[in-house]
Amino acid sequence: MILHRNIAIAITGLFIFASTPALADVVAVIGTGRMGSALGLRFAETGHTVIYGSRNPNSEKAAAVVARTGNGARVDTSANAIAEADIVALVLLWRATEDLIKSNVDNLDGKIIFDVTNAPIRAIQPDRENAVDTSAGQLIQEWAPKSKVVKAFNTVGYHILENPAHAGGPVTVPLVGNDLPAMEKVAELVQAMGFETMILGGIEQAHVLEGMALLYFAPYAQGRFDEAFEYYFRKGTAPTGVNSSRVRGADTE
Ligand SMILES: NC(=O)c1ccc[n+]([C@@H]2O[C@H](COP(=O)([O-])OP(=O)(O)OC[C@H]3O[C@@H](n4cnc5c(N)ncnc54)[C@H](OP(=O)(O)O)[C@@H]3O)[C@@H](O)[C@H]2O)c1
Repeated sequence: MILHRNIAIAITGLFIFASTPALADVVAVIGTGRMGSALGLRFAETGHTVIYGSRNPNSEKAAAVVARTGNGARVDTSANAIAEADIVALVLLWRATEDLIKSNVDNLDGKIIFDVTNAPIRAIQPDRENAVDTSAGQLIQEWAPKSKVVKAFNTVGYHILENPAHAGGPVTVPLVGNDLPAMEKVAELVQAMGFETMILGGIEQAHVLEGMALLYFAPYAQGRFDEAFEYYFRKGTAPTGVNSSRVRGADTE
């Protein structure tokens, strides 16, 4: 009997081992809104330990987000979540981001910052534009110089993050940042969630990605809900006849 129980425990242990990613991380997900709760759900589903960081960790809203996430997720202050985490995902509103980074900069040292933020100026709807000249990603890297900022998912809606199948085909997530190993690590995390990835280049390219997000938001900002568009990056082989000599035309510097 005891032998049988031990075998059952061993098999259960094997199963848990097999279904847990080789490199499970503790991820602080800062922000419990639409995108934060979607990202926390996906991190938890893919085997990572999620600690939400919230202004109101004792609120009913935070409790509901934790309950929906399951898989051992919890919520704390943002400072505590960041201190405990291996990876910090920024999924909060842009106006709160500078203060969050600057007041936790020591605990961000050496960590990957998984940056999902966009920085639109809401006050000037419907003509939305970025609230910053460079990009949110670049500023975050400046404010946390010893962290490895990787921009990811800022062009993907929360509904697609929760269920990539709703896109009707593969979705490629562009990744930009200054640290290649950090981008490769983020690529693994994102691929585990059912997306393809493409590493594009340095964090300065966040400017372009954040511009893409503004384009995505534009119809919503203009109240044109009946004709809002969805778009996805979907990588594939270049069409026949397109090669490097034809891409590098006269307009390419
Ligand atoms: N929605 C999308 O589909 C989508 C897609 C791509 C990128 N993003 C980006 O993801 C970020 C979050 O977007 P969201 O749509 O999830 O927004 P949201 O639903 O409004 O949630 C934003 C969260 O930010 C946190 N927060 C921290 N400080 C705040 C403050 N001073 N004022 C208000 N909220 C504060 C709040 O969490 P606590 O109450 O727990 O503190 C809040 O739930 C933004 O930077 C956005 O551009 C969103």
